[in-house]
Amino acid sequence: MTSTTAFWLAGRQATGETAFDVTSPWDGHTVGTVSVPTDAQVEDAVFAAHAVREDFAATPAHIRAAALDHVSRRLVERTEEIARLISAENGKPVKWARGEVGRAVSVFRFAAEEARRFNGGEAQRLDTDAGGQGRLALTRRFPKGVVLGIAPFNFPLNLCAHKIAPAIAAGAPIILKPAPATPLSGLILGELLAETELPAGSWSILPVPNDRMPALVQDERLPVISFTGSERVGYAIMDSVPRKHCTLELGGNGAAVVLADFASDEDLDRAAQRIATFSNYQGGQSCISVQRVIADASVYDRLLPRIVAAVEAQVTGDPNDEATDVGPLISEAAAQRVEAWVDEAVAAGATLLTGGKRDGASYAPTVLTDVPAEATISCEEVFGPVLTVRKVDGEAAAFAAVNDSKYGLQAGVFTHDLQTAFRAHRALEVGGVVIGDVPSYRADQMPYGGAKQSGVGREGVKFAMDDYTYERVMVLTGLAL
Ligand code: SIN
Repeated sequence: MTSTTAFWLAGRQATGETAFDVTSPWDGHTVGTVSVPTDAQVEDAVFAAHAVREDFAATPAHIRAAALDHVSRRLVERTEEIARLISAENGKPVKWARGEVGRAVSVFRFAAEEARRFNGGEAQRLDTDAGGQGRLALTRRFPKGVVLGIAPFNFPLNLCAHKIAPAIAAGAPIILKPAPATPLSGLILGELLAETELPAGSWSILPVPNDRMPALVQDERLPVISFTGSERVGYAIMDSVPRKHCTLELGGNGAAVVLADFASDEDLDRAAQRIATFSNYQGGQSCISVQRVIADASVYDRLLPRIVAAVEAQVTGDPNDEATDVGPLISEAAAQRVEAWVDEAVAAGATLLTGGKRDGASYAPTVLTDVPAEATISCEEVFGPVLTVRKVDGEAAAFAAVNDSKYGLQAGVFTHDLQTAFRAHRALEVGGVVIGDVPSYRADQMPYGGAKQSGVGREGVKFAMDDYTYERVMVLTGLAL
């Protein structure tokens, strides 16, 4: 018997009239029961956030920074408990869940640092022309208004952190909606924020059901929307509010390129190991997991068996078990979709080298070759533990293969050559190029976001703060410059 978890309305706990169960994707047990805010409670949260926006923007940096530092410290103290919760509601193996908590610790710490640094103002002399004599422009950034953050299930703590922490650092109130499958990890952030001196109304965490979100999206008091999730939903949101500022972190079908110079046994062992690990972490449910391997013909025959062996060495099973590398997907329906896409590719001529089996919500780590270009798995984001491997001739063909996708989030290039690295950086139509590693590398302070259909705008603490704010210039006159 679990008690009902309250949500956070304007910084205080509240409960609504209905609740829903959160169940483990691994064994179906009830992890928690979460209260759902009524329409009136959602209105109260929006009203409070809108009402506090000017005062919050004017809150001294040290108060916002202290609150962010506090959350970071408390996450450290509660790491094990929170990691177990992430693992229970999401199915993520506990070792990966601990890593996620560690990243959220850093996000709040970076946000505290940025809060202290941000918006010092930039001065520009205007007496460069006679009309500007004695004048100086001082530019500072101010919040655009209340942020509506919409977070996904795959990093249920850290992607909530990426919405909340930059908003607080920039002095923008935020209403956060965690994912319906995994709201508990996001709601825990409320417990930590409630221990701070942040003004009431500056933050709310509301598990609003998806079918009630269009009204919030349309609300004019929420001029900024920061969404992480599917391409379909992201663009539907943006199309429905073309005059709002939308940041969309959408899908990808991450490519790892292995070039001819990455050819020693040690190189190929390392590439194979990294590829196997990061096509399967979180069951492949990361927008930057490795979905496509593009290998130069000169290394392909030695790389492929190494990849298959490393994929087969991934330990699957109970996410609570310390040894488990790959747990279930978020739901049986998600695993069935992955199964259907793999089956479709095989029926169209792809070769299945390992995996290809489903057991409930779990899908076995899978490697495919000879996948037709028009197969769904070649074109769409699989969001599952499936890897396709393709042979190409030379660097230019490899880069063209990476770009032959509607997505462009991140790409990894295994090379030792600095000139190649710079050519890749120029050629690849993605938001991030990782040299010597998989596309799945993300440091939480760096700009993160996509090109093409992978989204609009950037996260990464400082970059999200830029996104949540705009420049306002003040011209000073009559100065002795
Ligand atoms: C995502 O799936 O877009 C987030 C990946 C990450 O934060 O590592």
